[in-house]
Amino acid sequence: MTKLILTRPDDWHIHLRDDLLLETTVPHAAQQFQRAIIMPNLKPPIVDVAQASAYRQRILAKVPKGLTFEPLMTLYLTAQTTPSMIKMAQESGIVFGCKLYPAGSTTHSENGVTDLQKLEKVLETMQEVAMPLLIHGEVTDTEVDIFDREAVFIDRILKPLIKKFPTLRIVLEHITTKDAVDFIKSTPENIAATITAHHLLINRNDLLVGGIKPHYYCLPVVKRKVHQEALLAAATSGNPKFFIGTDSAPHSREAKETDCGCAGIYTAHAALSFYAEAFESVQALDKLEAFCSFNGPDFYRLPRNSSKVTLIKEEWQIPKSYPFGKSEVEPFRSDTATAWKLSS
Ligand code: DOR
Ligand code: ZN
Repeated sequence: MTKLILTRPDDWHIHLRDDLLLETTVPHAAQQFQRAIIMPNLKPPIVDVAQASAYRQRILAKVPKGLTFEPLMTLYLTAQTTPSMIKMAQESGIVFGCKLYPAGSTTHSENGVTDLQKLEKVLETMQEVAMPLLIHGEVTDTEVDIFDREAVFIDRILKPLIKKFPTLRIVLEHITTKDAVDFIKSTPENIAATITAHHLLINRNDLLVGGIKPHYYCLPVVKRKVHQEALLAAATSGNPKFFIGTDSAPHSREAKETDCGCAGIYTAHAALSFYAEAFESVQALDKLEAFCSFNGPDFYRLPRNSSKVTLIKEEWQIPKSYPFGKSEVEPFRSDTATAWKLSS
């Protein structure tokens, strides 16, 4: 196959950051996607409708002329979130999910949740009004090995949560393990998962063998090859519970290439090329459209897009860096040729 025509995809999990950085991230995202679920982990985080609405306007202001891009906003759950904030969010028409960051689990999660018990009323309201709960699924217990934190989260936190709120709509974000794939497959249809392109394309050998690659470091961290294979099988299975979510998460070069580097991989510049490469690696390009363009809107109860995008099998070289405010960001795969190109 040398040409792919797909219903225009959406990204169900992206970090665009703010202010000057939007000048890079928004045009990249808007070239690839019609809509995107925008992560709220700014500093300070987006916690209410007023902040989400202002942030949405800042994003829209950076959409290049001639492109349409719809930011689907999310709220960051904290100990201060109330049921009435959830109701307002549901009624706003601009908020499409609330994000649960266990405090300390990842970048800018320090305002996140330490005790889920305290969120009981909030979760009850989310269940009632059908607001999706988007979860960063890792425990933060220092005793738990970093490679096991997702599997332990599923057992210790997610299973009891689902038992308590059986009809709550949940997306387990950026899954990285066979454990998560098997678990999601066993759940009812109100529970789904996103999968990133980088977790389909790299495993922990790519991160660590022959020298540490800071630009391959993200959270949840990439795992063993068997997990990468399980993710590829899930993404290409046609099961509607699995859908695209890039978790494109840019950091400046200085923040990555340092003694204590930030977690996050920037993929927004060529996300669809990466997913095409991953699907092609297991001869499953015929499953790409459902994963990228159908399963997400179906889960979020939004219409599927009607316009199309075209990917062409043509080698191209991703630049070594993109401007990123006063600094630069190193994009994923800037070191190798990329096989699929989005035609403009
Ligand atoms: O690698 C990551 N980067 N994982 C996350 O969960 C957050 C993200 C970020 O915001 O940089
Ligand atoms: Zn994320």
